Amino acid sequence: MSTWQGPPATCSTSPFVIEPTIDAVRRAGEDAAGRLRAAFTLDQLRELAAELLGKQGELAGVKRQLGSLAPDERRTVGQAVNESLALAQVAHDERRALLAAEARRQQLEAERLDLTEITSRPRRGHLHPVTQAWQRLEDVFIGLGFRVVEGPEVESDYYNFEALNMGPGHPARSMFDTLFVDYGEPGSTVLRTHTSPVQIRAMQTLTPPLYVVAPGRVFRRDTPDATHMPVFHQIEGLVVDKGIAFAHLAGTIQAFTEAFFGPGFNSRLRPSYFPFTEPSAEFDIQRPDGSWLELGGCGMVHPNVLRAGGIDPEEYSGFAFGIGIDRMAKEFNGVDDMRELFANDLRILEQF
Ligand code: FA5
Repeated sequence: MSTWQGPPATCSTSPFVIEPTIDAVRRAGEDAAGRLRAAFTLDQLRELAAELLGKQGELAGVKRQLGSLAPDERRTVGQAVNESLALAQVAHDERRALLAAEARRQQLEAERLDLTEITSRPRRGHLHPVTQAWQRLEDVFIGLGFRVVEGPEVESDYYNFEALNMGPGHPARSMFDTLFVDYGEPGSTVLRTHTSPVQIRAMQTLTPPLYVVAPGRVFRRDTPDATHMPVFHQIEGLVVDKGIAFAHLAGTIQAFTEAFFGPGFNSRLRPSYFPFTEPSAEFDIQRPDGSWLELGGCGMVHPNVLRAGGIDPEEYSGFAFGIGIDRMAKEFNGVDDMRELFANDLRILEQF
C-alpha cells in the first residue's frame, strides 16, 4: 500500500513571467515560501527549490528584466527580488531541516535494535534439528543394546572403498561422488563418502559379538536439492555375531523405525545392491501423503568385508545398515526441503 505524498511538486511549474513591480515580486516571494513550506518530502522540496529558487524560476526571470527598468525602479525592484529570494530560501532551509529530521527518525525506527530485548532476557537456544535426530537415534540404538563408536572424517581409500569390497576400478565406486584430499599418493585420501568404513575399523579393534552404531558427518560431490546435501550425516549400524540372519536385520529396522517415528509407521525393505553387503536392500519409510522416501541402505555383511575386518565368515555372520540422519530430521519435523535445515534462518530453526 502506498501512502499519499501530497500534491505533485510540479503542479504549477511553467514559470510564467511576473511583472517587474515591487508588489508582484513580493507576492511571488511569499507564494514561493508558502509552497516550499508545504513540501511533503525531501524529493518534493528539491524539485520545488529547483523550480522556484533556480535560474529558471520566476524571481530569476524578473532579475533578467531589470535592465529594461528605469534606474530607480531597477534598484527598488532588484532589492525586492533579493528579499523575496532570501525569504523563500529561509522557508526552504527550515523545511529541509524538518523533513531531514523526520526522515532520519523514520529510518532509525525502521532499523531499531532494542538491545534490552537481547541483554535483559537471555533466550534459551536449542540443538539443531539434525543434532536432535542424531541424539535420538543414538538413544534408540543404545536402548536396543548397541554401543556408539566413531571413525575419522578424512579416510584412506582403503577403508572407504577397498576393504568394503570395492577394489581399485570397481564400478560401484561411482555410486559415491567422491571428494579427494590432496594428501599422500594421489587418490589415496578421501573425505569419507559414507560411515561404512567404521565397520572395518570396529571389526579390527573390537572382538565379536559386535552391536555398534557409528554416527558421523560424510561428504559427497552432490548438488544440493530437496533431499541431498554435499555435507550430510549418516548413522552406520553393524552387528556381527554367531547365527545372524536377514530376519534379524528386518526386525531391527522395524524396531528402530517404530522407536523413532512412532508405532504404526510404515517402512519397507527393497532389493538393492551394495558391494559390501549380500544380499542388499534399501530401507524406505512411507510419508503421510503415501509417497515413499529412501532413508538408508542395508544388508548382510559380505564375507570379504568380514575378512578385511579380521573376522572368520565361517564362524560369524552379520548385518549392517547406513541411514541418512538429515533425511530422518527432515521427515520427523515435516520439513519439505532439506536445504532449509542448513540456511541458518532462525525463523525456521526456532520452530524445532
Ligand atoms: C550408503 O552410503 C551405504 N554406505 C549404506 C549402507 C551401509 C548399505 C551398510 C549397506 C550396509 P547410500 O549412498 O544409499 O548408501 O546412502 C545411504 C543414505 O544416506 C541414503 O539412503 C540417504 O538417506 C542418505 N544420503 C545419501 N546421499 C545423501 C545426500 N547427498 N544428502 C543427504 N542424505 C544423503
